[in-house]
Amino acid sequence: MESLASLCKRRGFIFQSSEIYGGINGFWDYGPLGCELKANIRDLWWRNIVRERDNVAGLDASIIMHPRVWEASGHVGGFADPMVDCRDCRRRYKADALCEEQNAQLQESEGRLSLPDGVVCTGCGSKNLTEPRAFNLMFSTHVGPVADASAMAYLRPETAQGIFADFSQILTVSRMKVPFGIAQIGKAFRNEINPRNYIFRSREFEQMELEFFIKPGEDTEWHEYWVSERLKWYDMIGLPAASLETFTYPPDELAHYAVACVDIKYAFPFGVQELEGIAARGNYDLSRHAEYSGKSQDYFDPETNERFVPHVIEPSAGVDRIALALLCNAYCEEWIPKNNTDGEPRPADPGAKRPPEGYEARTVMRFSPRIAPVKAGVFPLVKNKPELVAKARIVYEQLRRRWNCFWDQTGAIGRRYRRQDEIGTPFGVTIDFQTLDDDTVTLRDRDTMQQTRVALDELMPRMEQQIEP
Ligand code: GAP
Repeated sequence: MESLASLCKRRGFIFQSSEIYGGINGFWDYGPLGCELKANIRDLWWRNIVRERDNVAGLDASIIMHPRVWEASGHVGGFADPMVDCRDCRRRYKADALCEEQNAQLQESEGRLSLPDGVVCTGCGSKNLTEPRAFNLMFSTHVGPVADASAMAYLRPETAQGIFADFSQILTVSRMKVPFGIAQIGKAFRNEINPRNYIFRSREFEQMELEFFIKPGEDTEWHEYWVSERLKWYDMIGLPAASLETFTYPPDELAHYAVACVDIKYAFPFGVQELEGIAARGNYDLSRHAEYSGKSQDYFDPETNERFVPHVIEPSAGVDRIALALLCNAYCEEWIPKNNTDGEPRPADPGAKRPPEGYEARTVMRFSPRIAPVKAGVFPLVKNKPELVAKARIVYEQLRRRWNCFWDQTGAIGRRYRRQDEIGTPFGVTIDFQTLDDDTVTLRDRDTMQQTRVALDELMPRMEQQIEP
């Protein structure tokens, strides 16, 4: 993780927020490459979930909503984590995480939580810890000039409730029939007790959520359908099933209203952790909003003349966690033959200080071409030959009309390739003297480092096959 985090900072993927003021815990900024990576995740999700389906509509709801939304959803009453403090060093912990780290389990008796014997502060080793107490994770604020209780509002802790609150409006305007879905991508905020593991658990993050409304009784089949759809999507972005794990919640761990829940997890260097949860939530949310708002959330089925509150399947994913999984999955240190001589790259031996004779080390991000922040580096072989640079510029302009590309005319060509390898650019396009004669360029593959001579007319179709197959 340290090598990856250092690359991410050095190359402009991710920085600590407000670093010039010492940073702020749990908040992160995405630099030029990080925001391209996130944009690709969002775009591929939106395309797959909304654009390629007739029965899913999009929504962009406001972040601050009427506070009653969060009473109805149960967040005001119950969106809390158990917190403990160390009385000696003043460190603060999420009680269940602290227990888990020490192979213990938080205990519960008659609704009261307690720490098992032997759990200590991981900071100073003290046993002098407070009893766990509930800490609500919602950030609150005030709307308008008077900061009193009547002006209290919350930053949304999930995007889902915006969808439920707008359910009947979207039903009316879209004229969709059950089964149908409403999708939303946006920021969510949680005042996590202990933000940790880089961008994995932060206080401001982004969610991609779909609420797919179905006829009661069809929950199991639709739930299975969405688990399978989501796994296909992960495969498409470069996280194949072999790199993921699914966890099916046993019935006694489900919320009282839920029918099923499956988590999709990734093996991060700090453990196997959740990227997305896919829950069959019954009609809990819509029924609660009907109750709290006094407005019916019924659906009338014109074919069967039935009236019912639809049940919902909710695939809920985190953009930042998916970005982190993609970064971890792509990161690779290997040894390659020096000066582009013959030979295959081979994995670096973690025990060795330096590569063997004739080899040099390279760091390469093996992103799938679909998700890579930069699709091609374009390089005039030399920068002091105006004709050659002009030709390269034409190629660059053509490619960047379609994809995010990078122009680099400085340094030895091998070093230019290496700079792109490090940020995961799948293609290198080099314009050389031969290009001026026959309109061909060298196309270099990031992973194999193979270079092929390609006619300019063939260049975009060749790249397209891999970027948008
Ligand atoms: N509407 C359901 C919901 O919000 P969740 O499991 O609390 O469910 C869904 O959140 C996803 O949002 C998680 O799987 C994760 O990817 C992301 N997420 C949740 N809390 C996060 C945090 N503090 N930092 C980064 N991502 C988070």
